[in-house]
Amino acid sequence: MSDKVDMDKIVSLCKRRGLIFPSSEIYGGLASCWDYGPVGVELKRNVKDAWWKAVVHERDDVVGLDTSIMMHPGVWAASGHIDNFTDPLVECKSCHLRWRADAIEGKKCPECSGELTEPRMFNLMFKTFMGPVEEEASMVYLRPETAQGIFVNFENVVTTSRKKLPLGIAQIGKSFRNEITTGNFIFRTREFEHMELEYFVKPGTDKEWLDYWVKERFDWYVELGIRKENLRLRQHGKDELAHYAKDCYDIDYLFPMGWSELEGIANRGDFDLTQHAKCSGKELSYYDAEAGEKYVPYVIEPSAGVDRSVLAFLVDAYEEEEIEGEKRTVLHLHPSLAPIKVAVLPLSRNEKLTPLAKEVFKQLCPDFVTDYDDSQSIGRRYRRQDEIGTPFCVTIDFESLEDKQVTIRERDSLAQIRVPVGELKKVIEAKLKGEAFGASTLWATRQK
Ligand code: GAP
Repeated sequence: MSDKVDMDKIVSLCKRRGLIFPSSEIYGGLASCWDYGPVGVELKRNVKDAWWKAVVHERDDVVGLDTSIMMHPGVWAASGHIDNFTDPLVECKSCHLRWRADAIEGKKCPECSGELTEPRMFNLMFKTFMGPVEEEASMVYLRPETAQGIFVNFENVVTTSRKKLPLGIAQIGKSFRNEITTGNFIFRTREFEHMELEYFVKPGTDKEWLDYWVKERFDWYVELGIRKENLRLRQHGKDELAHYAKDCYDIDYLFPMGWSELEGIANRGDFDLTQHAKCSGKELSYYDAEAGEKYVPYVIEPSAGVDRSVLAFLVDAYEEEEIEGEKRTVLHLHPSLAPIKVAVLPLSRNEKLTPLAKEVFKQLCPDFVTDYDDSQSIGRRYRRQDEIGTPFCVTIDFESLEDKQVTIRERDSLAQIRVPVGELKKVIEAKLKGEAFGASTLWATRQK
């Protein structure tokens, strides 16, 4: 177990500082549903942007896609989700609560010790109806993974992108699973966001591409600040592989409740394209002009949860420390993930300071997500920014009015430097990219 932080502290910080709220809170909430607040929405967006940058924009062999949540029901029959995307469920004959059969010990209901039914298979896909008539023929599913939207568009993307294999197609979007056991905050929910890459390769090269993507994805978390000792790789045993997978690795993170899956990287073989070709009647193969042969590509799939990644970044960044006898809570987030990059803080709400402080804010906000805060004491405002992981605070004081210089305070080292207002943008840009801050360097020192 992580000895650093318990989940309650993360949940409380998220509520207190506008990162994540319980959904429909004024109605008493809705189990396992969460809303991202003004600060949280920036963090979540930054996580998705960082993934998209690394997986799509910084490569010439991956393109993006955004497919619809509702798809033809035939997709889910072909993909195996109707038959195989199930959990064994038992029901208490007294209180009628339902439990995952593989998650309870013994033969009695954990709630009331009542007798349990034999396990029945329960499909995890949400169903709804398309159009005004609620009948079997108009039933559709909410997608449980974004991957199938990619497979059914394989031909469209290959033809229009004019790219050769190996070729990746990436997608970020909502998925829905009627999970029986939810919990641990945003770790397992019924509605969540996926970041998925389907990387199509020539059969026979799949093993080496699986190793490649396992390393790429592991390194992504480390580069964004997660400490290596809190990450581990775990290969699936034959008995736990999903119905479509030939091989699979999990990247696990040491969450407050223990080691748990953060991302899975699977070798899906040619399962999906073969199934969709068979069920749709459309040929889904690739003509390899260099080799002069046609084949059904194999697929390597790194599949991560946005919300689960957000949780891992929060947990890893969280620290309570004592500075000169005072307690402070700080999020040591990587600068590219930090929801707010700079906070502009006039020393007080004094009418002489306000014009320069507003001018500084105006100068910075087109380039950096910038907060302006002149309420309460400067100490309280620093603490608020530390708690949401703001890398830099810019303070405007009475001296600033004379010398047109302001103070930049760095979140992790608490070091301060004085900078001319005209150079602020350039200096902050360089510091956000990791340039040394006085004797220290922002955040990166933590990785050593
Ligand atoms: N297309 C493959 C696939 O969906 P998965 O292992 O079921 O594979 C991949 O899911 C990732 O999606 C997980 O590692 C996790 O990060 C995230 N995920 C899955 N179910 C989730 C849930 N109920 N709540 C939050 N995140 C979830």
